[in-house]
Amino acid sequence: MAEARFTFPKKYLWGTATSAHQVEGGNTNNNWFAWEAGGRVHPGHSAGLACDWWGGRWREDFDRAADAGQNAHRFSIEWSRIEPSPGRWDENALDRYRDMARGLRQRGMTPMVTLHHFTDPLWIYEKGGWEHDRAEAFTAYVEKVVVALKEYVDLWVTFNEPNVYTVIGYLLGEFPPGKKSIPAASKVMINIVRAHAAAYRTIHRIQPQARVGMAHQYRGLSPARTWFPLDKAIARYQAKSFNDAFPRAVSSGWLSLPIGRVRIGAAKGTQDYFGLNYYTAELVKFAPLAIGNFFSRRFYREGVPCSPTGFIALEPDGFSDALRWAHGFRLPIFVTENGVEDPEDQLRPIYIVEHIRRLWLATNFNWDIQGYFHWSLVDNFEWERGWTQRFGLWALDQETQARTKRPSADLYAEICRTNALSSELVARYAPASFVKMFPNE
Ligand code: GAL
Repeated sequence: MAEARFTFPKKYLWGTATSAHQVEGGNTNNNWFAWEAGGRVHPGHSAGLACDWWGGRWREDFDRAADAGQNAHRFSIEWSRIEPSPGRWDENALDRYRDMARGLRQRGMTPMVTLHHFTDPLWIYEKGGWEHDRAEAFTAYVEKVVVALKEYVDLWVTFNEPNVYTVIGYLLGEFPPGKKSIPAASKVMINIVRAHAAAYRTIHRIQPQARVGMAHQYRGLSPARTWFPLDKAIARYQAKSFNDAFPRAVSSGWLSLPIGRVRIGAAKGTQDYFGLNYYTAELVKFAPLAIGNFFSRRFYREGVPCSPTGFIALEPDGFSDALRWAHGFRLPIFVTENGVEDPEDQLRPIYIVEHIRRLWLATNFNWDIQGYFHWSLVDNFEWERGWTQRFGLWALDQETQARTKRPSADLYAEICRTNALSSELVARYAPASFVKMFPNE
């Protein structure tokens, strides 16, 4: 049988994404450390030594990534290491991050650096976190990092998933600080957008050629009963609030809050590319008694394959929707996260080929998509879910720090090396997807 091959444009970035608190280990000076110590994550779990990157194991993991054909990596900087207390800067910590960025370049990989990935220094957290204006403090930190790393890095993410940070931390109460308050969430949203806009300018002042954006999580939210106006209304409202608020704010300068909207003129046009995180899509049903859940119930489509803990459903159509939505912002796009938890690597090969195929389709429409970062390189600490979920191309044994390659690592390596997805690869790694992707007729 003839081989079909979906080839990507030259210079496509292929990598994986990680974040400081999830991989470094020994981060004891931030909000998540406090949250874990307070027993607020999966019982008994904490980031602990994580993947021991702070102990130097980033080197072996970057070797793995480079050997596996990846030409880029997205990692994040831990603010509480750079500025352990207000105005006190730790030059050694900056040097370590410089080593990491240089380490990527030496391996032929492009670094993408996130400046805020869910964690805040304790001294910010204990004084009310982002409910207060932090633009000045944040830009001082950003300036230190950009000056230190600019020789190696010009691709920056200011904030990772500000929607997840706000909704889970300030409306659902499952991330620190565990609040359920619309006024608090609204203040946080305003302050993040302001800080992003200020950071955008700071970075460009230091490094005019920089490309700066955010990593926006898009979640597919569709009405469970398409004929029922209340399902439609609630799904539309949730999609608008969750997916649209931040990207619209940094494109138009208008931020929609749960109640009303505010003008933040300085934020207008403060993205050079669109960072898209996509995992899954779900259905929304109107539920008048579910007050804490915004009068809705959300669930996955019946019969759709799910990850082992039921956290992620296989919804590649939702990825196409996400890419179309991101394309609407008329900026170059990077897929800054996409992946699935799967210790046995049963669903992951299917997830990868079906999502990469959607990525290719969108790229083939001549939408300016420039790279893809799989979540994640090695199993790491999964926030409130602790170590119960395994997103790595490599499995991690936290006790011994041993890494074990999963078959998906080889599959992804072939995609990265050939800059293409082929029918032969699908047949070999994800035969269940073959007929669906390459129908006979
Ligand atoms: C994202 C987050 C990552 C990672 C991933 C998988 O929302 O940015 O840090 O945890 O989910 O759960």
